[in-house]
Amino acid sequence: MNRLVEELGSRRYNNEEIAAILSDSSLNDDLFDKAIDTTSDNVKVYALLEFSNRCRNRCLYCGCNRRNKNLKRYHMSEGEIIETALAAQAKGFNTLMMQSGEDVYYTKERLAHIIGGIKAYGMEVYLSSGERPLDEFRYLKNAGLDGYLMRFEVFNPHLYRDLHPEQSPNYRRRCIEVMQAMGLKVITGSLAGLPKQTVQHLAEDIAYIYKVGAKAVGIGPFIPHPDTPLRNAPKGKLETVLKMMALVRAMSPSKDIISTTALNSLSAEGMKLGLMAGANVIMLNITPESVRDDYNLFPDKSITDIGIGDAFDKTVDMLEEMGKNIVF
Ligand code: 5AD
Repeated sequence: MNRLVEELGSRRYNNEEIAAILSDSSLNDDLFDKAIDTTSDNVKVYALLEFSNRCRNRCLYCGCNRRNKNLKRYHMSEGEIIETALAAQAKGFNTLMMQSGEDVYYTKERLAHIIGGIKAYGMEVYLSSGERPLDEFRYLKNAGLDGYLMRFEVFNPHLYRDLHPEQSPNYRRRCIEVMQAMGLKVITGSLAGLPKQTVQHLAEDIAYIYKVGAKAVGIGPFIPHPDTPLRNAPKGKLETVLKMMALVRAMSPSKDIISTTALNSLSAEGMKLGLMAGANVIMLNITPESVRDDYNLFPDKSITDIGIGDAFDKTVDMLEEMGKNIVF
């Protein structure tokens, strides 16, 4: 095995070394072998509830950006959210990921009410609803919130500003760091395969994941969406994302790594490949069918809807075939 790959996890790597591994495809087999050897057989399965697609932002890649007028906007009521969560719990789920755009309807009080309502039944609750005033993260934690998913999307500040015209890279990272410091379970990560993104940028993204010290990581491919300014940009390469995941896995056996739904937009087997590249967490979509097609971050997302009915059973079968133990 190549030494640079073999020694992953035994010492700190600098950005040049990470970039060297990412750019050399002759190392792929070694890297994926190393990642597989370091991956647990237990796969954590979370329920994903996309409770609102309304968003005040205009991220250039995202189908939910507020300038997209082709999207029917929806938001679920507090009661609907709690009811859907409890139905998922009855199916066996123990962890809920509540995700939405930056929808100002959900004030901290409303969210606290929802979180409290679900926590009363003992579920673990994560939120993924973007940036808020910093003190609100503490308020939500006090209301029982267990964790927060917020990607920094891309570490490089110039790329970040180009892609998020109204947001600040510093503030976003501040949110992530403040949550981490207060003991919320932070899941963070980035997009791979964005226009103008180089392997040096990707190496910086990995370095930042380590700087934050988050327990869990979600890295996904960029998928061009037809109703966004980046409609004509090429999609991220499967290989790039899988290598990023495998690198993080090889460097840290104990981190949780999510095999993202966006991987399935690149390949029918995408999420499975993610699990073979070091991931140990998947999220199954439990969003009510009446609205789930409207949660349209990127195209072909519906083929990733594996949380309900038949599709749920298929996913369980897939994990069992892989020899994985399912942990809800
Ligand atoms: N392709 C891939 N991922 C996307 N996201 C939003 N739009 C896209 C896209 N076009 C991801 C962002 C965000 C998460 C909720 O969805 O990384 O953090």
